[in-house]
Amino acid sequence: MHIPDHVKIVEVGPRDGLQNEAQVVSVQARVALIDALSVTGLSAIEAGSFVSPKWVPRMAGSAEVLAAITRAPGVCYSVLVPNMQGMVAAEASDIGEVAIFASASEAFSRKNINCSIAESLDRFAPVAERAAQRGLRLRGYVSCVLGCPYEGAVSIDAVARVAGALHRMGCAEVSLGDTIGVGTPLAARRMLERAARDVPMAALAVHFHDTYGQALANILACLQAGAAVVDAAVAGLGGCPYAKGATGNVATEDVVYMLEGMGVRTGVSLDALVAAGALISAELGRETVSRVAKARKQAVLS
Ligand code: HMG
Ligand code: MG
Repeated sequence: MHIPDHVKIVEVGPRDGLQNEAQVVSVQARVALIDALSVTGLSAIEAGSFVSPKWVPRMAGSAEVLAAITRAPGVCYSVLVPNMQGMVAAEASDIGEVAIFASASEAFSRKNINCSIAESLDRFAPVAERAAQRGLRLRGYVSCVLGCPYEGAVSIDAVARVAGALHRMGCAEVSLGDTIGVGTPLAARRMLERAARDVPMAALAVHFHDTYGQALANILACLQAGAAVVDAAVAGLGGCPYAKGATGNVATEDVVYMLEGMGVRTGVSLDALVAAGALISAELGRETVSRVAKARKQAVLS
């Protein structure tokens, strides 16, 4: 079985996670979460988004969050931007990367960013140009890569088309998102392999929500196909406001435990990660979704 020796984990909890929590999380608590994540050894943290607060109220205050965090050396802090307005706002926030986000499904594109896929790509092109001029790394997302809450099945050719367009636009990394967590391992692998015909495998990331409990299995299937960048959210935070029923991202603790257990290096301290997850779970007043964090807690209590 071939799997990479080293995997980069992109922590999306402070953005993809908190954007969909029922409870409002204060700027101070968002800062505390990011600061706790910054000392875990993670190299990439998605810290917020510069989108319309009317569309995603939970991400309001992202500029304040970025102004208050303690930046750790070697960590790339990133934010989502949907258009030029978001890009201009993001530039003032001392970040290393901006992420643009498109969809493989027309219906989801309209619900999420109020335009067609083609219009979104037209809108992103000048944002990408500006990111390059400012020396900011660019990441791209493709949503609904294994199914859409409105359209159902999504063609892997459509996924590859959008992924290829984002890569040609200058995205150093294109993350393939199973937004509603419906995918299963062989479908995930086929989708990734199809996308890798249009985008180099080294520039692809996988992004699984765990709605149907398939995320770890999907990640393993994708690692075997050559993926080496994995998105995850500490404590399994999150979901998507425009994808009803979608649960959180796969928990970062669970991904790190699986990878390190297989001898794949992540550079992340599981203990520090569990501590960051405990912090935000306490803030939210709910139990973590991470099975590893729960098991560790039991081991301490028994
Ligand atoms: P629109 O209504 O078509 O935009 O929304 P508009 O340009 O007509 O502007 C309308 C209003 O929004 C104006 O304010 C603008 O100023 C304001 P008003 O005059 O009404 O007071 N506005 C903004 N405000 C702040 N920041 C901005 C911005 N842009 C416009 N950047 C828009 C279009 C794209 C803005 C909107 O649909 C939007 O913000 N959508 C964001 C959706 C979102 O963030 N979704 C979650 C992230 S995607 C995701 O989670 C999936 C992912 O995790 C991968 C996966 O799992 O698949 C990435
Ligand atoms: Mg997501």
